[in-house]
Amino acid sequence: SHDIPSDIVIFGALGDLAQRKLIPSLYHLENAGLLCKESRIIGVARTDMDTAGFREQCKSSLATFVKAEELDPTNQDIFLDKLVYSQVDFGTTEQYQGLKSTLDEQLERTRIFYFATAASLYGIICKNLTETGCIEESSRVVLEKPIGHDHDSSNQINDEVAKYFEESQIYRIDHYLGKETVQNLIALRFANPIFGAQWNQNQISHVEITVAEKVGIEGRWGYFDKAGQMRDMVQNHLLQLLCLTAMDPPGDLTADMIRDEKVKVLKLMKPITGSMHNDHVVRGRYTKGMIDGKQVPGYMEEEGANPTSNTETFVSLKVEIKSWRWAGVPFYLRTGKRLPEKVSQITIHFKKQAHYIFDESQRHLAHNKLIIRLQPEEGISLQILNKDQGLGQGMRLRAGPLKLNFSETFEKARIPDAYERLLLEVIQGNQYLFVRRDEIEYAWKWCDQLLEHWDKENTPPLPYAAGSWGPKASDLMVMKDGRSWHEDQ
Ligand code: BG6
Repeated sequence: SHDIPSDIVIFGALGDLAQRKLIPSLYHLENAGLLCKESRIIGVARTDMDTAGFREQCKSSLATFVKAEELDPTNQDIFLDKLVYSQVDFGTTEQYQGLKSTLDEQLERTRIFYFATAASLYGIICKNLTETGCIEESSRVVLEKPIGHDHDSSNQINDEVAKYFEESQIYRIDHYLGKETVQNLIALRFANPIFGAQWNQNQISHVEITVAEKVGIEGRWGYFDKAGQMRDMVQNHLLQLLCLTAMDPPGDLTADMIRDEKVKVLKLMKPITGSMHNDHVVRGRYTKGMIDGKQVPGYMEEEGANPTSNTETFVSLKVEIKSWRWAGVPFYLRTGKRLPEKVSQITIHFKKQAHYIFDESQRHLAHNKLIIRLQPEEGISLQILNKDQGLGQGMRLRAGPLKLNFSETFEKARIPDAYERLLLEVIQGNQYLFVRRDEIEYAWKWCDQLLEHWDKENTPPLPYAAGSWGPKASDLMVMKDGRSWHEDQ
């Protein structure tokens, strides 16, 4: 289907996501020769604007969001020529007629409807598209997160969309799945027998997944406060990383094989219940502190803050999976805003040497760690033990990394943005990097047990200073198990 042209219709085409991510990503696909010559990108929004104005707007976004050395003037012009604007008030059917006639100018192509709008509009947009005859059997729809704020509300939205589209037409975005290194997890685990054979409770003692951000709320207080870190990051991105790390090998690389395996992990996650802070969960909220040597305000001092808020900006969790593969192997998850660095990584801690013959004081060193760095500086490193070099100190051990830095090793390979990959997969009709309906349902079900409890307790999260690694209780949670969060690279 690569060669079949597509009409990519973006609802919310003037919004932040479209201008900051989608338009630049589509440009990169053009620049890489991956957009069909006849394909069009149809921007849809309520604003009164024409195609020329839309092209101007997108041109200025490209200037802002694409690196100057990656902006090829010829390809930029070819790309801008593909843009068309269609003014539509999403709520009423009238203006969809205009969109429909634009679409009908070109038959024999795949229609892709990308909803970069609030999820509360998905249902009405689907309905109006259907009633005005815009949707064909080959059409696809792309849904952005957040789809709802709990199991029931997400179900409602999915039900609405399901009235008009089959599951095989629906592409739910989790942009973490589009990250190069996240996909590399599949290659790493299933193409390397050396890891494949070790990937279980016989060899692994525990797994850590950290997604740390330096940014705070970035003017989104109103949105974020209704969500919190659990809904904004754990329910989607961290659980996806957990699933890809923990799943059984899929029989092949088809979308449903992979997604079946991910769903199995979600079903086998042990519920976390009980009081708000216990040995399985810690919630935090940042107070003022220092980021990169600069003073930053606390969450409750940010613009628009509501003094009665009890929303968390940090969560750490100890997740257990009730399976043969993972019995007794905790997955420690941690994510927060205003942490000291922006880093996402998965660390696999292998078990210690059973019979130990070296210096007793170094016993704690004697295990291997595989660190999968998702961002920044994508790469993989395996901590191994060596004899410390030199005379006169006997057999002293020293841990050092076997390191693979993608940008150094695989020269010239530009690492594409997650949205480039995801848009290309939609165009090619491959769903394996998109979230199936049952995945989102099981993920919400698991999170809801905690969230319901938090809502009921309605007490403030534990404080941590901006620029620190979260509340002390988060360190204590892993220390109780004789472990510590891995903070070096
Ligand atoms: C988004 C969240 O889904 O992911 C944001 O809504 C968060 O709050 C962002 O900052 C992080 O994405 P990335 O790609 O920068 O790690």
